[in-house]
Amino acid sequence: MTAHHNDTNTDTNTDTNNDTDTDTDLDTFRTELQRLRSLDVPTHGGSTFAYVYDSGRPDVDGLGLEALAMFGESNGLDPTAFPSLLAMERDLVAMAGEFTGAPAGFVGTVTSGGTESILLAVQTARDARPDVSNPSMVIPSTAHAAFHKAAHYFGVRAVVVPVGADHRADVDAMAAAIDGSTVLLVGSAPSYAHGVIDPIEALGRLALDRGVRLHVDACIGGWVLPFLDTAAPWNLGVAGVTSLSVDLHKYAYTPKGVSVLLHRDPSLRLPQFFACADWPGYTMLNSTTQSTRSGGPLAAAWAVTRAHGRSGYAELARRAHRAAVTFADAVPEPLEVVAAPESTLVAVASRDPQVDVLVVVDEMQARGHYVQAQLAYGDTPATMHLSMSAASLDVIDAVIAALRESVEAARELGPVTVDPGLAEAARSLDPATLSDADFDGLIALAGLAADGGQPALPTRMAEVNALLSVATPALRERLLVAFLDRLTR
Ligand SMILES: Cc1ncc(COP(=O)(O)O)c(C=O)c1O
Repeated sequence: MTAHHNDTNTDTNTDTNNDTDTDTDLDTFRTELQRLRSLDVPTHGGSTFAYVYDSGRPDVDGLGLEALAMFGESNGLDPTAFPSLLAMERDLVAMAGEFTGAPAGFVGTVTSGGTESILLAVQTARDARPDVSNPSMVIPSTAHAAFHKAAHYFGVRAVVVPVGADHRADVDAMAAAIDGSTVLLVGSAPSYAHGVIDPIEALGRLALDRGVRLHVDACIGGWVLPFLDTAAPWNLGVAGVTSLSVDLHKYAYTPKGVSVLLHRDPSLRLPQFFACADWPGYTMLNSTTQSTRSGGPLAAAWAVTRAHGRSGYAELARRAHRAAVTFADAVPEPLEVVAAPESTLVAVASRDPQVDVLVVVDEMQARGHYVQAQLAYGDTPATMHLSMSAASLDVIDAVIAALRESVEAARELGPVTVDPGLAEAARSLDPATLSDADFDGLIALAGLAADGGQPALPTRMAEVNALLSVATPALRERLLVAFLDRLTR
């Protein structure tokens, strides 16, 4: 979660007149849309280091938005009714295959995002093995949370294997975790949390040896790594990799709502498709979890990827990577990067308990640099995450200067401490036994009280994050779900 960056204008209630009679002045709604938009973190400028990606090319962004509007009303439900969308999907899949070393005969599907691509990869691996009654997947502890969501949705047990000291998948430990129920192995290129690439070649050998599928989650790296010669083998060119996901709404710099899921061959993909003729209406035929789906994001991605092209992406990838390396090299003591950046991601921890990295996050945000807090998990300390955009390179000196100031400010403020009694209570609470009223109390205690549907987040999140940090992951999850429930009532 991100603290409010704009405390002068935090009214998220839309109080616009709903009366849409012919006298309605549409400009009223335009003005209201602009006001609402101003509540959000900036999507441009290169200093929002999570959620959004900025190529620094407003001309290409503009083309993408035109395409989004032009195709926003079209429907990918039926490719025979909208052949334009089929044609653009084929072009996007072809480009994704070219960028990710896909062998001849590969196939792909455009989905709505990384999570949907991962959900489908897991569902497909499960359904390809009807002989396995209690399916499981072996995933490194750094695998994206979307795999846990897939486990939850599809009843595929996630067998989580701790990563090694270098934060990479531990192939021997994963091998030991495979059994007769395993339908899928997972590797990341790179992992979101630490930005390191798992040993995909070794995982591929393991997958072939044990006869299981291997999905490479290249959602965040797949449009960058093709252009960085430093990257270890990571893609569909590696023997044993059966599927790969790459998100265009990240480093292809397209409007939100587009990812590509590739499979090595059509037979591997087939269980992904769904048809239903068992009702009196049209035979529903879907390649993704959605049925009706807007052509807008797809068309926008088609336009933006054509406009940047291979050479444009090579330059954008180099710029974002250079921003990451420049930043990592300048991280001041007592902060340290968790791993040298292999793509465009940086995670920073603190060596000194007096300089609390979660306070540094708040200080950076107060200076207009929207970095992301990652809570401590297992042996991994709390970190500050930055996903660098190409546009970040233009402001990197200011970001580094702000980091130096933020470290000094955090040292002066000191670490956020949690009352030991409270910490003990948070550790020992079993969320399953808590009532709705208990959650109301805990949410208020955490400073997250939702005020009439508004996210009443404090401007500084370090206190909230410190409290969440002492809670077990299960309690964190339940508390934040209760918060979201109240926000959306
Ligand atoms: C490695 C990785 N996988 C999956 C996802 C999920 O993607 P989305 O947020 O588009 O669903 C992300 C998002 O950051 C990611 O970095």
